[in-house]
Amino acid sequence: MFGRERVEYKTPEQVAVMRRAGLVVADALDAVRDALAPGMTTAQLDAVAEDVITSRGGTPSFLGYHGYPASLCVSVNDEIVHGIPGARVLQPGDVVSVDCGAVVDGWHGDSAFTVVLDPADPADVELAATTEDAMWAGIAALATGDRLSVVGEAVEDVVEAAAARASAAPFGIVEDYVGHGIGTAMHQPPDVPNFRTRDRGLKLRPGLCVAVEPMLVRGSQENHTLADDWTVVTDDGSRAAHWEHTVAILEDGVVVLTARDGGAARLRALGVEVAAL
Ligand code: MF3
Ligand code: CO
Repeated sequence: MFGRERVEYKTPEQVAVMRRAGLVVADALDAVRDALAPGMTTAQLDAVAEDVITSRGGTPSFLGYHGYPASLCVSVNDEIVHGIPGARVLQPGDVVSVDCGAVVDGWHGDSAFTVVLDPADPADVELAATTEDAMWAGIAALATGDRLSVVGEAVEDVVEAAAARASAAPFGIVEDYVGHGIGTAMHQPPDVPNFRTRDRGLKLRPGLCVAVEPMLVRGSQENHTLADDWTVVTDDGSRAAHWEHTVAILEDGVVVLTARDGGAARLRALGVEVAAL
């Protein structure tokens, strides 16, 4: 974890280009959200996202990444991340995680959300909501904290608080996949774990841009990759959720590059004012 490889610190001008990439991703995910319904195939969602990205002058960053064949990852039910879009028809009650990345003028944005289609099981809705809350708590911690390890602490706090409230089994935090630095590449140092670590991690300073992306499961976090070499599923078949935003740390605070409002509404509710871009 927390390898001390070279970190790419961005200038405010570079962050402004990343904001453009972030808004392309936000537009693509909004279009997918509008289209999402039982009866759709995951390949149809991929086409929706690809259209928006290219028509807005971006390039889908997932397409061709280590041979990945699509512009979105669509991970359904027990699929945690990296589900490949295809002929699968979405069903009522499905837990659907949609992950999207785009490059604009050489700079990346990366974001994901989870929805439950016509929810049948309230615990699925709680899973998706807790994962989103954990992401926002992690982002807020970047605004107030001094070291990267504050993200994992905040995520764990949210998961523990949910466990204390809930009637269902406590949610597991996936540890095999983590958030990451982002900039001229989609994945850069530093790693951003979603769990407590002994190492306090990199000191936070202006110019650091990271993707915060907790993945929670209703059962055990143990997982494996399917024969397609991409799709990551839970070993116990329990359902998973994944939320992600690309965040910039600036001189006077953080701004969420893949949120249309820069994260203002969700962060204000956590006592954090977003920085001006
Ligand atoms: N966007 C994912 C992440 O959050 C990575 C997608 S891998 C790809 O880091 F192959 F689909 F591009
Ligand atoms: Co990511």
